[in-house]
Amino acid sequence: MIRPQPQGLKVTCNTGDPSFPVGAETTILGLETSCDETAASVVVGGHLVRSSVVSSQVDIHARFGGVVPEIASRAHVDLLTPVIAEALVEAGVDGPDLHAVAATVGPGLVGSLLVGVSTAKALALVWDIPFVAVNHLEAHLYAALVEDPSLELPVVVLLVSGGHTMLVAMEGHGRYRLLGSTLDDAAGEAFDKVARYLGLGYPGGPAIDRVAMDGDPHAIAFPRAMMAEGLDFSFSGLKTAVINHVRKHPDASTADVAASFQEAVVDVLVAKARRAAVQIGARGLVLGGGVAANSLLRERFLSACVEEGVHGFLPSRAMCTDNAAMVAAAAWWRLGSDGPSGLDHGADPNLRLPLIG
Ligand code: KG4
Ligand code: ZN
Repeated sequence: MIRPQPQGLKVTCNTGDPSFPVGAETTILGLETSCDETAASVVVGGHLVRSSVVSSQVDIHARFGGVVPEIASRAHVDLLTPVIAEALVEAGVDGPDLHAVAATVGPGLVGSLLVGVSTAKALALVWDIPFVAVNHLEAHLYAALVEDPSLELPVVVLLVSGGHTMLVAMEGHGRYRLLGSTLDDAAGEAFDKVARYLGLGYPGGPAIDRVAMDGDPHAIAFPRAMMAEGLDFSFSGLKTAVINHVRKHPDASTADVAASFQEAVVDVLVAKARRAAVQIGARGLVLGGGVAANSLLRERFLSACVEEGVHGFLPSRAMCTDNAAMVAAAAWWRLGSDGPSGLDHGADPNLRLPLIG
């Protein structure tokens, strides 16, 4: 059955108008609701962060040992309006001062995404400004450029989050080449699953990071999968090796297991990032995604950059984990290159990074 289109809704934004002018004064409100962080941010000119408000739902989901999608969407509904209000007040701007409103449209939890997307489109209609659809993975790539706009391309970005582990060559704005990715678990997923098994709670990454500080990283020789082969990753065997070790040695020190596991993950991530940078002759090597908040990874990553003679950049921890400043920054570039998105743009939980080649 063909449903009639609703009448009376004036769709003010065009799609694919590449002539939309963006400049140093272009002020964008970004919204991020793809998982369990409700965030809003006002960014001027693609990198000047006037406000960045993040309300984490970690405490709400902790007792379930992971994010519960239905609870996450409901929490976004409750939290998003006050978070936006705070971001506007902190930035000292109001609707009429904004040039566009952007939201993450995917990948992520569909119910959560829809809260941000619907809100952004409603605000775009009310304020009569463009709506910009933002890919969450592209936003993570832009996190480093928000804090260091002088970064020279091409850079290799090691993007390590709860759902993704990928090495991306960022050759230009909107020009991404996938160099490698995980064949099974994402690095953050491995941190979360191992932490749950060790009884360290949720979210697992920060818990392992903390506990590992008191452990011996060389106590257990966990496997480094695919270390010598190419630029892809595999972490599911490592997770199984940890479980098997703890079953065999129930008295093993949790700190030693956590430290040895973390050492194995970081060894592989850093070795491959370094190889990728050399392979494409990158001018810089950049970290992004929630796992980029890991203390050992940050330390080893910078040392590798120094040894390879490439410019290394670590975004602040707040910029690595989910936030809306990176969404507004990516939106600034997208608005300039593709123009506004249509108000009929939906949410796509399986959205992929647009790649060249
Ligand atoms: O990018 P992000 O905030 O959300 C996604 O888009 O997935 O990443 C969340 C992931 C979780 O798996 C979390 O355990 C991990 O990042 N993470 C860490 C640390 N902080 C967050 N992993 C290792 N060490 C950390 N300090
Ligand atoms: Zn993320």
